[in-house]
Amino acid sequence: MSGYLDIRNVSKAFNVSGRELQVLRNVNLSVDKGEIYGIIGFSGAGKSTLARCINRLETPDAGEILVDGVDVVKLKGKELRQERRKVGMIFQNFNLFEAMTVEKNIAYPLEIEGVKKAEIKKRVQETAELVGLADKLKAYPGGLSGGQKQRVGIARTLIGQPDVLLSDEATSALDPQTTLNILDLLKDINERLGITILMITHELDAIRYSCDKMAVLENGQITESGAVADIFRNPQSKTGELFAKVSKEFRRAENFTDGEGI
Ligand SMILES: Nc1ncnc2c1ncn2[C@@H]1O[C@H](COP(=O)(O)OP(=O)(O)OP(=O)(O)O)[C@@H](O)[C@H]1O
Ligand SMILES: [Mg+2]
Repeated sequence: MSGYLDIRNVSKAFNVSGRELQVLRNVNLSVDKGEIYGIIGFSGAGKSTLARCINRLETPDAGEILVDGVDVVKLKGKELRQERRKVGMIFQNFNLFEAMTVEKNIAYPLEIEGVKKAEIKKRVQETAELVGLADKLKAYPGGLSGGQKQRVGIARTLIGQPDVLLSDEATSALDPQTTLNILDLLKDINERLGITILMITHELDAIRYSCDKMAVLENGQITESGAVADIFRNPQSKTGELFAKVSKEFRRAENFTDGEGI
């Protein structure tokens, strides 16, 4: 097993009021370069903790996380900061600075790096055009729709030119149409820039729309992984089965109402 992002035997526990809570158990995952890979799981399964281990906001207790062959678990100081730039992250609640304009929000990672003003201006313009926000640069987040806010979040991440994008429930707060638009944008970014995307979600339909391969995370363990079509058709895990069932039920209900002409 060797991909661009390789997670090997990763475990993580938290100490909660004196008791050990095991959140990730021997997680193994391999994502190829340029792939959009889905991870599905119920609330509390450990999805965000896994993402936070990959970008080293958390440190795993055991295991290796290889990004392009470099084990990020072992890195410290300057090397860790450099490596972290390769891994961008977008969030469900966008995490924008409300008091800053769109332009300032997008520019932020370059400003703290001390990049020259002219270079920042150029890259902000390019990135805003890429995500369809060129006419919103002077607006504040409060005046934007959810979809536009997520575009700012995506632009702020892309401006750092990451190789890997961790998308942690990036569309969970959006309406279905806006979800589709953002998934299309992620696909476009993946194709144009060759960025590898790990799409974490509890929406199986989002994974079916965007990914060829996926893994199911259940109580901190990967209970199955493989082709999305196979898992949808013939799930092998309890969680996989439940997600597939719900998705199929909705589909059936849709067809039924279509048939009635409602
Ligand atoms: N820093 C922490 N300290 C203690 N417990 C934590 C910490 N971070 C996460 N947990 C616990 O770990 C478990 C997994 O949390 P995590 O946020 O990874 O789940 P998730 O799959 O992302 O859930 P959701 O779908 O609700 O976002 C939960 O029980 C959570 O309470
Ligand atoms: Mg989460």
